[in-house]
Amino acid sequence: MILAAQKVEHYEIATYGTLRTFAQNMGHTEVAELLERTLANEKMTDEALTEIAQDFVNSQAATE
Ligand SMILES: [Fe+2]
Repeated sequence: MILAAQKVEHYEIATYGTLRTFAQNMGHTEVAELLERTLANEKMTDEALTEIAQDFVNSQAATE
């Protein structure tokens, strides 16, 4: 489940990062800032999922 969730997060990170850059290049500062905040949230979610996997799930899965 974590793998699937992280696939989605990485897809979102790539998408929001690209859209943010497009907005910056087009001079849409407010849009770029919103996309930057969204991108930061997606990265935090990805990091949280990594911590959950590393701290709890991976070791339990290895024993099953
Ligand atoms: Fe997300």
